[in-house]
Amino acid sequence: MISLNPAIVAIDGPAASGKSTIGYQLAQTLGFLFFDTGVMYRAVTWVALDRRIDMADGDALGRLAQAIRLDIRPPGQTDQDGRQCTVLADGEDITWKIRLGEVDRNVSLVSAVGEVRRALSLQQRRIGLHYGSGEAELTGIVMVGRDIGTVVLPAAGLKIYLDASPEERARRRFTELQQRGKDADLEQIYRDIIRRDRQDSERALSPLRAAADATVVDTTSLTPEQVVETLLDLVYD
Ligand code: DC
Repeated sequence: MISLNPAIVAIDGPAASGKSTIGYQLAQTLGFLFFDTGVMYRAVTWVALDRRIDMADGDALGRLAQAIRLDIRPPGQTDQDGRQCTVLADGEDITWKIRLGEVDRNVSLVSAVGEVRRALSLQQRRIGLHYGSGEAELTGIVMVGRDIGTVVLPAAGLKIYLDASPEERARRRFTELQQRGKDADLEQIYRDIIRRDRQDSERALSPLRAAADATVVDTTSLTPEQVVETLLDLVYD
């Protein structure tokens, strides 16, 4: 059993493996802060696109990641629109802009840049340690990403690696888009997932992989409720 007061739960895994849905529900159940680190990479990508920064210019992307002020907050009273958190870049609310297809297509490029990873990992570690140290108003944090257990917080009390087959992940993303009333093409989503898996796991810096001491949970044939139950068992084990 992890020390529950305070605690850091790290959840890593590939695109559309359910990390955010599961991480959010787990955090709600435990009364912990939920922190999806992917939003930081998405935020830098959105601002870079908005400022027409060349996606091949790693130096410029690195400078941007160091200069930009990112704030991740629990949703406020006035933004009950399905968001899990509010994302501010230099004070501007970009919560929904970072979900645009343009960001999806470019975020792997941005997250492969060393200076971007260094700048964002530092901020993530600071936030994780703040909440995980018991100094904050909440007693713990659930952090989801690709390299939380391996690089950002290798000393996390509990490390989970969530996985599912690419077909199942594509189906889940397809259903999610349909429910939001968006046009979706299952074949295209499947191809995008395969491409992002390859980009995330073949990059030289902090490639996507399970930490040696992570518990791998294959969610292919599990409902979200069953996955949360499995993780709660691991928390209290
Ligand atoms: O989980 P997501 O799809 O929102 O993540 C967006 C991108 O950010 C994804 O391509 C991988 C990258 N990422 C990362 O490299 N490290 C993290 N800790 C979180 C996300």
